[in-house]
Formats: sequence, structure tokens, C-alpha cells
Amino acid sequence: MRNTLILAAFLSFLLNLKISDSVIFKMTNVECLSHNKSWVRINTCRLKAINRFKVVFNFNATLFYPTPDIKVTYRFFKKENGYKPWLINVEIDSCRFLKKPYNAVGIMVYNFFRNFTNANHTCPLYDELIVKNMYLTTEPFKGLPWPTGEYLFSLRWKFFGKPQFDTNVSFQFVEDLL
Ligand SMILES: *[C@@H]1O[C@H](CO)[C@@H](O)[C@H](O)[C@H]1NC(C)=O
Ligand SMILES: *[C@@H]1O[C@H](CO)[C@@H](O)[C@H](O)[C@H]1NC(C)=O
Ligand SMILES: *[C@@H]1O[C@H](CO)[C@@H](O)[C@H](O)[C@H]1NC(C)=O
Ligand SMILES: *[C@@H]1O[C@H](CO)[C@@H](O)[C@H](O)[C@H]1NC(C)=O
Repeated sequence: MRNTLILAAFLSFLLNLKISDSVIFKMTNVECLSHNKSWVRINTCRLKAINRFKVVFNFNATLFYPTPDIKVTYRFFKKENGYKPWLINVEIDSCRFLKKPYNAVGIMVYNFFRNFTNANHTCPLYDELIVKNMYLTTEPFKGLPWPTGEYLFSLRWKFFGKPQFDTNVSFQFVEDLL
């Protein structure tokens, strides 16, 4: 009886391992650019490989003024002979969103970051904007059938309607390796 239980536990462990190993989902590059260095200074924008499957993102920017009007354009590109615009192109009113999440794409994107960022309170955002050791998991997709491929996720941050900085994250999603 005891051996059976141990065997069952071991098998379910292997099975879980197999399921979580059947996806590669990792960032491959990041680029950040301030368009207005008197408002936004990018201190850190860097990936670090932890192992073959896990890459973490660290971001640190200083916003020199309290910023109560923030809109971010989210655009996805998919690589097919160069990056081509892919389905998602949406502008999120971040200050409205931080009060009350209101857009499905916004919610998905925020779910990737929420555990890793200090932007988890209502506006204004001020001083340090941090993303710490963020990595990708498939959880925010919530069953969305995301196609295998190489992607670029581009975020353009506007304050009072004017572009202030960009964060571009490239990532790879590969399903069913086995
Ligand atoms: C750049 O930042 C300054 C504040 O340091 C602001 O007054 C100015 O409007 C910004 N420029 C643009 C184009 O948004
Ligand atoms: C962010 O960068 C600034 C300037 O380099 C630094 O003083 C600060 O400690 C950094 N914050 C974190 C949380 O690493
Ligand atoms: C965020 O943290 C919560 C609570 O620890 C956890 O349940 C959830 O899976 C995490 N989400 C992501 C995307 O890492
Ligand atoms: C917001 O983020 C900070 C820094 O990461 C963390 O200490 C704090 O617990 C978070 N607050 C909420 C409400 O999640």
C-alpha cells in the first residue's frame, strides 16, 4: 500500500514535470529608450539567464516628476521574415487601469508583471519604476491558444499624450517540445 502511494506520487511528479517542460517561454532580448531624459531616466534594462529555460528581466527607471496621466500602447509583432504587426495594438489608460482593470489585453499583460513590479498602486507614479526578476509563465494566457513563434512586445509610454519612453521585449514561445 505504502509503495503504491509512493509510486503514484512519483508518477504524478513526473507527469507534472513533463507538462511544465513541454513549453519554452522565455525572453530573448530587451531594449529600453527614454525620449525625454529630463523626465525619465532608464537605470537598468537587462535580461539575465538563470538556466536554459528561465530568463529574468530587471528594469529600473527614475521618473523625476509625479506622473498622473499615463497611457501605454501595447503592440505585438510576430517574426515572419522580420517582425510583422500581430493582432494586438491597444492603448491602455494606465491610471484608469490601476484604479480598476478594464481591458482584457491590459489584464493579461499586467498579470505577467504584477508580481514583479512596484507599479501596483494608483497614480501618480513617481520616482522608481521597478520590475524585479520577472520571468514568463503561461498562467496569464489562461487557456488562450498562443501560437509557437518569436515575438516582439512593444510598449510605448506616454505622459500627457506625449511619448516619454519605450520598452521592447522579445520573447520565444515554443509549445509541445516532446
Ligand atoms: C519632457 O519632460 C519635461 C519635464 O522634465 C516636460 O516639461 C516636457 O513637456 C516633456 N517633453 C515632452 C515632449 O513631453
Ligand atoms: C534603481 O536605480 C537607482 C539609480 O541607479 C538606484 O539608486 C536604486 O537603488 C535602484 N533601485 C532598485 C530597487 O534597485
Ligand atoms: C503571482 O503570485 C500569486 C500569489 O503568489 C500566484 O498565485 C500567481 O501564480 C503568480 N502569478 C504569476 C503570473 O507569476
Ligand atoms: C507592491 O509592490 C511592493 C514592491 O514590490 C511590495 O512591497 C508591496 O507588497 C506590493 N503591494 C501590493 C498591494 O501588492
